[in-house]
Amino acid sequence: MLRTLRHCLLVFLCLAVVAYTVYVYGVLPLGAMMNPTMRANFEHNWLGIYTHVFASSLALLLGPLQFSARLRAARPRLHRWLGRTYLGVGIGLGGLAGLYMAAHAYGGFWARSGFALLALAWLYTGWQAYSAARARDISSHRRWMLRNFALTLAAVSLRVLIPLSQIGGIPFSLAYPAIAWLCWVPNALLAEALLRRQSSQRRGSGLSAAATARATQ
Ligand code: HEM
Repeated sequence: MLRTLRHCLLVFLCLAVVAYTVYVYGVLPLGAMMNPTMRANFEHNWLGIYTHVFASSLALLLGPLQFSARLRAARPRLHRWLGRTYLGVGIGLGGLAGLYMAAHAYGGFWARSGFALLALAWLYTGWQAYSAARARDISSHRRWMLRNFALTLAAVSLRVLIPLSQIGGIPFSLAYPAIAWLCWVPNALLAEALLRRQSSQRRGSGLSAAATARATQ
């Protein structure tokens, strides 16, 4: 029950960020919701920002579907095609354009390095997930996809943290560089903690199965 609720909340947040992106970048003039410095930067790098926001939106849209065990079992071919689109367009194109935009990001060194490292980690985990899938190493593929999607969710964390920092009265010029790190480092740590818990649970159940087998011999 709690799991379903968490899953629904996650899907809702992903869809909300995609809806925001489509409205602000598909309908409004470029940079309409940004401060003048960011608007000028986006106007100057319009190809980079448009490529980034629309390609990355695909990752947010497709990511939650790829974790559905039911879909994977019922439509394995669809899972593979959606996976190729998620990794090729969402992460590959969205990540390279994100890396380009990181070099120009508002907020100076700390914002630029935070976004650049996020983009590199996004591309790296995506590549590892793809290589593991090609090698039919499904358990490694699953672990890399979890790490990768935790980073995709940086787009959600960022858009939760910015309004929170504004409610807290923190000047944007101070908050933004910190948020460039806070939007993804906790996600990455959480993904590692989840993977560790899952592997220790598996080890635990393996040990107890072995103990039961020994006891019944
Ligand atoms: C996870 C890797 C990602 C990286 C490294 C990244 C990087 C960046 C960078 C550097 C900017 C420009 C910020 C500035 O100029 O100050 C930006 C803006 C933006 N990104 Fe990403 N991004 C990522 C993921 C995503 C995803 C998954 C989405 C999905 C919608 C997204 C949507 C946007 C949008 C809409 C903007 C424009 C700013 C806004 O309207 O809030 N990004 N991103």
